Amino acid sequence: MAIDTGFTAAAVLARAAAMAGYAPSVHNTQPWRWTIRTDRMELTAVWSRQLPAIDPDGRLLLLSCGAALHHARTTLTATGWDYAVERLPTPGRPDLLAVLTPTAHRQPDPAATRLVQTMEVRHTDRRPVSDTPVSETTLKQVVAAAEAEDVACGLLTGERVFDLAAAASRADAVEKADPEIQEELAYWIGRHDRLGIPSNTLTGSQPATTVPVRDFGQPGVLPSGPGHDRAARYAVLFGANDEPSSWLRAGEALSAAWLTATRLGASVLPLSAVIEVPVTRTALRRAIDELGWPYLVLRIGVADPDHTGAVHPPRLPTAQIVDVEEVRHLLDQE
Ligand SMILES: Cc1cc2nc3c(=O)[nH]c(=O)nc-3n(C[C@H](O)[C@H](O)[C@H](O)COP(=O)(O)O)c2cc1C
Repeated sequence: MAIDTGFTAAAVLARAAAMAGYAPSVHNTQPWRWTIRTDRMELTAVWSRQLPAIDPDGRLLLLSCGAALHHARTTLTATGWDYAVERLPTPGRPDLLAVLTPTAHRQPDPAATRLVQTMEVRHTDRRPVSDTPVSETTLKQVVAAAEAEDVACGLLTGERVFDLAAAASRADAVEKADPEIQEELAYWIGRHDRLGIPSNTLTGSQPATTVPVRDFGQPGVLPSGPGHDRAARYAVLFGANDEPSSWLRAGEALSAAWLTATRLGASVLPLSAVIEVPVTRTALRRAIDELGWPYLVLRIGVADPDHTGAVHPPRLPTAQIVDVEEVRHLLDQE
């Protein structure tokens, strides 16, 4: 059933696309574009912002786009719209990642509304976490949010955390020894075009944590503080298949888990170097008992309460990521 094609539909879809701009993306590449049509919105990948050195298969690009897709879906639900979603609907068009078609209007959804309220404040906090443990209730809700997107989310315990630490150290060494990866990393740090990672979101020194976080090769300004990762929990998003449709879905699970964690006061840091390096990605399979293919590692913790966290890195202007040409006449009528 198509919804009315007037201003309301166009405006709702355009707003969902704009909110999707707050989604996390690898190196803040924001590799997505939305096209608003009279009865649907389409998500396409911007392959020119793929990271060829660390992400030759596009798995992190698709994870990022999946996060944007979940942000848009959640915004539609919050405003009371049911929708149909088709993922990778057209064989032979790998750039068309998803189509969202609103189907019926109901009551605004309070749970989705609370998640939408966190979109603008959710951010990547690269500081060590505090010694306050994340409550089991919070962990359960974060895991449940990811799993509601049909992606497994396994919390690592005991020895498994040391396996992860070893894999993360090895991934770090492999990437540091690769000049193309280092060049690519340097290209995305400290830019002034609303893309990439500003130095005010990086720590001044490399934190001394059991599981090493990504070394961006340039010091930032955030205090590392006395924190460690003793109280952090590590989770792996994984699934049965290792292909584009699973990576897109994993991005949706990432968004669901991260927005839920933010709502509950927990901080999340994705660790993707172990996924980028083939040998450590395979090693990580052992940490999840060979139950599936790992898509992303998440560090979940309680942020240092004595210091404000990182600021949100800038995003591209909405006009650059949302194409409203087909519905402009509707929007202009209001
Ligand atoms: C698929 C994916 C992988 C990421 N990997 C890392 C990582 O390894 N280390 C890191 O510090 N941040 C990582 N991030 C976080 C991004 O750098 C961050 O989302 C982006 O800079 C935008 O900042 P924000 O999350 O604060 O909005 C990753 C994000 C995504 C979506």
